[in-house]
Amino acid sequence: PSLEKEFLPMYFGWFLSKRSSEILRKAGQAFLDELGSLKAFKKESKYFASAVEDPKIKTDLTSYFVKRPPGVLHCTTKYTDFGKAPGAEEYAQQEAVKASYGKGFTLSISALFVTTKTVGARVELSEQQLLLWPGDTDKITPADNFPKGSRAHITLGCASGVEAVQTGLDLLEFIKLEKAGNKGEDVGEIVGGKLQYFDNGMWMLVLSKKIDVKAIFSGYYG
Ligand code: 2AM
Repeated sequence: PSLEKEFLPMYFGWFLSKRSSEILRKAGQAFLDELGSLKAFKKESKYFASAVEDPKIKTDLTSYFVKRPPGVLHCTTKYTDFGKAPGAEEYAQQEAVKASYGKGFTLSISALFVTTKTVGARVELSEQQLLLWPGDTDKITPADNFPKGSRAHITLGCASGVEAVQTGLDLLEFIKLEKAGNKGEDVGEIVGGKLQYFDNGMWMLVLSKKIDVKAIFSGYYG
């Protein structure tokens, strides 16, 4: 039957359970608290200018990342912009997307990261989860060629004036450096894992124990 064109969501993605969202939020908060109190961070805190007006005050990264996602956290797979984004229809029509809609998944978080713009969690996708990952998103510039799923992340916060779309681009910047052979400077073990510094205010905590979160694959309609 000729029905109206399907109405597409603003984006598709995995939406964490309330409990998993709380667990990940807490891990992110603990990371920000610990990072902000480290000598190694304070030495490099010029990149977080507004947070260090008074160096005697503990660098408060929590108030630096003022924009935090309300409600449950999510990992965007495809930003479809209600059907207006390039490749939106093609993505929505894929068998894997239709078959997985409304289904439960367990996502694995392997690292937490901070830049001067965003704080986020790096998501390591399984083969099955990669079937839901679009082919056109793992790029900063059209010429980039990063492994599929490189951009997979969960936004935990953004600095004032920064849009959430930035978190995935920031993660790709880390991956670009890793690809170029820059493993970052080992700062040492802190609670939760190994801390690496990549210069320019880019910090990554590689978790010693991955955090598994429960999530439902679905669409967000705004
Ligand atoms: P995020 O996935 O990094 O959090 C609504 O804006 C959601 O879609 C946000 O979660 C946001 O970023 C994501 N988003 C917005 N614009 C996007 C784009 N152009 N490409 C990919 N994801 C985007």
